Amino acid sequence: MRTLTPSDFFEAARRRAPRLVELRRTLHANPELAFEEYETSALVQSVLGELDIEMRTGVARTGVVGVLRGGMAVEGSRCVALRGDMDALPIHEETGLPFASRNAGKMHACGHDSHTTMALGAAMILSELRDELPGTVKFLLQPSEELLPGGASVMIADGALDGPKVDAVFGQHVAPMVPAGAVGFHPGTMMASADEIYITIRGKSGHAAMPQLSIDPVVAACELVIALQKVISRSIDPFQPGVLTIGKIEGGSATNIIPDEVKLQGTLRAMNEEWRKGAHEKIENIIKGVCLGNGTEYELDIRLGYPALNNDPWTTRFAQDAAREMLGANAVFDAPPMMGAEDFAYYLEKIPGTFWWIGAGTAEQGCVAGLHNPKFTIDESILPIGSALMAWVAYRYLTQG
Ligand code: NI
Repeated sequence: MRTLTPSDFFEAARRRAPRLVELRRTLHANPELAFEEYETSALVQSVLGELDIEMRTGVARTGVVGVLRGGMAVEGSRCVALRGDMDALPIHEETGLPFASRNAGKMHACGHDSHTTMALGAAMILSELRDELPGTVKFLLQPSEELLPGGASVMIADGALDGPKVDAVFGQHVAPMVPAGAVGFHPGTMMASADEIYITIRGKSGHAAMPQLSIDPVVAACELVIALQKVISRSIDPFQPGVLTIGKIEGGSATNIIPDEVKLQGTLRAMNEEWRKGAHEKIENIIKGVCLGNGTEYELDIRLGYPALNNDPWTTRFAQDAAREMLGANAVFDAPPMMGAEDFAYYLEKIPGTFWWIGAGTAEQGCVAGLHNPKFTIDESILPIGSALMAWVAYRYLTQG
């Protein structure tokens, strides 16, 4: 068996660079929303097919699982998975790029077009080097990262991590405002859980000048928004991160009418599973108390979102070392945790792995907008870098992990 070096991977990636740009632009121009990624899935299947990679389709509806068995694999050798997400967002693109979205109201504003491209780029590189691979690589091209219940959870339920069983999983996400190609790692909890909160406060409507004849849900709702802040400020360990935001409040119709109901919606973010579950009860208790004091009634619906994302410390350090070998120490940074959420967390509940950031470009590199922004774009020089890095990390895991 020949020992491969980072330059073998970089070289293979460089040769594919024009193809990767073309792929990404095709995906970018044809965005599809969560669980509707049919054309995207067809394109993914055609690329994996060209590479002679065995696949399972229709996983989580539009998802594809590719399986590449290495030429040096033996009974009991490892299996490593690389993940790309395929869905776009309901945003109207304003980049003015020649390959901007052709589907009005839909846009790859979270870089999933590039994630899918880089996972396929890794598949191209690894299939070229397949004779030298001492194990199996799985490619998880999943739907619906953006929409509950999250494509990852459905992929797992559909057996994406079985047959062969996956030992470790790696994924990456583009990071705007970070120099193109710099990669950031964080061992441990890197992203938050995110639960959706829906509250309806019911009172009794009437004339605004005669409040004694009504039960005012507006006053109760205002009190509630403030009172709910205590869930964070008074019940979480000050050394633990947590956020509760009421992002939407809706009710009433005129200056002189007390309405009969007010609706509130918000998000609860946390990095501690035990506290998260207890927080749901605290939220309900506060609502109960406020409603009792105001004579109102309530309805509460908390929809469980993604769990916190826990990068396995050993696997993270392993991938970070591999990234340094390939990109040099200057290109690799320690990423801080953040309160965004990611359904990659579901894979990490099942098996060790890590999720890293890859810089998408700075303002000087032509990238001026953040994720989920209608002007979001990436510096395409990262496509071969991210592809080579994924492939290299997979190879290193199979040889040394
Ligand atoms: Ni995303």
